[in-house]
Order: sequence, then C-alpha cells, then structure tokens
Amino acid sequence: MRAVVFDRFGGPEVLHLGEVPEPEAGTGQVRVRVEAVGLNAFDGKIRSGAMEAAFRTPLPAVPGTEVAGVVDQVGANAAGVAIGDRVTGWTSRGAAELAVLKLWAPVPDDLDAAQAAALPVVGEAARRALRILDLKPGETLLVHGASGGVGGLATQLAVAAGVRVIGTAAPVNQERVASYGATPTTYGEGLVGRVRALAPAVDAVLDAAGGGVLPDSIELRGGTDRVLTLTDPAAHGLGVVFDERPAPSAEDLADLVGLVVRGEVAVPVAKVLPLAEAARGQALVDGGHAGGKVVLVP
Ligand SMILES: NC(=O)c1ccc[n+]([C@@H]2O[C@H](COP(=O)([O-])OP(=O)(O)OC[C@H]3O[C@@H](n4cnc5c(N)ncnc54)[C@H](OP(=O)(O)O)[C@@H]3O)[C@@H](O)[C@H]2O)c1
Repeated sequence: MRAVVFDRFGGPEVLHLGEVPEPEAGTGQVRVRVEAVGLNAFDGKIRSGAMEAAFRTPLPAVPGTEVAGVVDQVGANAAGVAIGDRVTGWTSRGAAELAVLKLWAPVPDDLDAAQAAALPVVGEAARRALRILDLKPGETLLVHGASGGVGGLATQLAVAAGVRVIGTAAPVNQERVASYGATPTTYGEGLVGRVRALAPAVDAVLDAAGGGVLPDSIELRGGTDRVLTLTDPAAHGLGVVFDERPAPSAEDLADLVGLVVRGEVAVPVAKVLPLAEAARGQALVDGGHAGGKVVLVP
C-alpha cells in the first residue's frame, strides 16, 4: 500500500511516499481504510529523532498518530465495532492507505473525515491538562497557545465549565480566541502586565505553546503550583509539572466527537493536503503557527 515514509531522522523533507506492507488488525484492534490523518507536533518530534532517547523508532517508519477511516478488518476481541463503521482514533502508523487503530470512537456520517481525524490527540491532551489543573467554576485560567489545537480546545472546554480564560495568541488569532469565550491577549514582551491588567489573580496556567512562557507564568501565578506545561522541557529546571503521558480513552473521544457534531466546541482544520504533500504539511505543523489542524488525505 502507499504510505508516507521516512528512512532517516531529519527535517520534514525526509518524508516521502513509499510502498509498505499492509498492516493487519491484532487482538483488540481494527484496521481502517484511511479517510484522513491528523498531523501533530509529536509526529515531527519522532521524525526529527528528538524522541530517540525516550523510545526508539525503527526505520523505515510511517508517521501518523491519529486517523479517521472506515473499518475494513476487525481483530479478535474488538467488541462493538463492525466492518463498514466510520471511526476516528489512535494509531502509530497512520499516514497511509490503511492503518490499525488501538483505540477509537464512532464517527457519524455528517462529520467530515478531516474534522474527525483532527480530534484524538488534541482532545486527549486538552482534557488531561484540565483534569490535572482541577479548575473550579469562577476560577481564572491563563492558556498559552489558545489559538492552537490543544490550547484552543482546552480554552473552550474550560469556558464551558464556567472558568474564566485568558488566552494568548498571535495578533491575527485574537478574534478566534475571543470566539471561544476567552479574553484574548498577545504573547511576547509585556505579557505579565497585559495579563495583570485583565485579571487580578491567575488561579492556574496551561502552557500549550512552549516558547519560554514559564517564567512569566510563575510570576503571574505567584509560584509553580497549578502551572502546567505540555511542551516546555525548561519545566524540569523550574519545578513546573511537564506532563507528557497521554492516557487516551474511547469514552472521552466519543464525548468529544459529540461535542463537535453538536457545535459545542470546534477544532479548526487549517489545511487538507494529499499524502504526497506530507512534508509541506508537517513543516507547517512544526512551525507552530499553522492556524489550525493540518490533515492529510490518501
Ligand atoms: N505533552 C503532551 O502530552 C502533548 C500532547 C499534545 C500536544 N503537545 C504539545 O503541545 C504543543 C501544542 O500542540 P498543538 O497541537 O496545539 O499545536 P498548534 O496547534 O500548532 O498550536 C501551537 C500554539 O502555540 C502558539 N505559539 C506559537 N509560538 C508561540 C510563542 N512564541 N509564544 C506563545 N505562543 C506561541 C500558537 O499561536 P499562534 O498560531 O496564534 O501564533 C498556537 O496557538 C506542541 O508543542 C505539542 O507537541 C504535548
């Protein structure tokens, strides 16, 4: 089958189309004919070799952590799913014509495949972050990267739970953050003053952006308690929690699909590209300003 492949670690340019053997659904798994593949910064970190110290990726490798598609093979003990079902979920080799899913949720016919493929990774990360921060209605949360996939969804879920959110984004994305029900502000020089002018106290901080925002976050919070980053290794030297342990749940994913279908939250898709343009798509994601999810279609 056709797949996106990398034979060496490096920049997005190492991604190319290739032929690889078709995968088979193992126990508790399903195989899907892929309709869309969501791209993530995580895929870029694996492809660059940056994750090799944490876990090895044998080469040649196929990237892709999340896909939506139509089930064409059901593994032993995979319950509640049948050939022909549309699903979205987690994989480890998704950028291909066929992919095996370890965990999935149903996708209704009226949800676009690109939209569905955009949900698993950001949905899990946003929910996990909010659970760790344990916010109460009426509290104030500062979200760095509120225009992004994870930060944007965390913002919407927090607002829906009665939390006041101040969200940072580029000037061009201020309106998007406001549309999520948050108070937008720009990142960069002078952030502490801008946030203080908007809120007397910040109860919790979620860094879904990176870019060295932790010192300002600690200052605004008055300490490291309830400051959480999903992306900045500087956390380790600052005493800030850096959580990078995804704990996907089929129930959470199904719930998120429902929220999107009902229009209660949105995960904007910025670009849909053919598999052959994986390098271009992943370069956009790696750049950190894609303006929404980037999705590949076989
Ligand atoms: N630890 C985990 O388990 C986990 C899970 C999922 C994701 N992540 C990480 O979380 C991060 C966000 O992922 P994502 O999918 O949401 O990415 P994304 O959609 O590309 O969003 C990136 C966000 O960062 C903002 N940003 C870029 N440069 C910035 C800067 N210098 N200062 C402040 N904000 C800046 C962008 O704002 P503008 O576009 O408005 O400039 C955008 O809102 C990535 O690093 C990813 O690897 C970690």
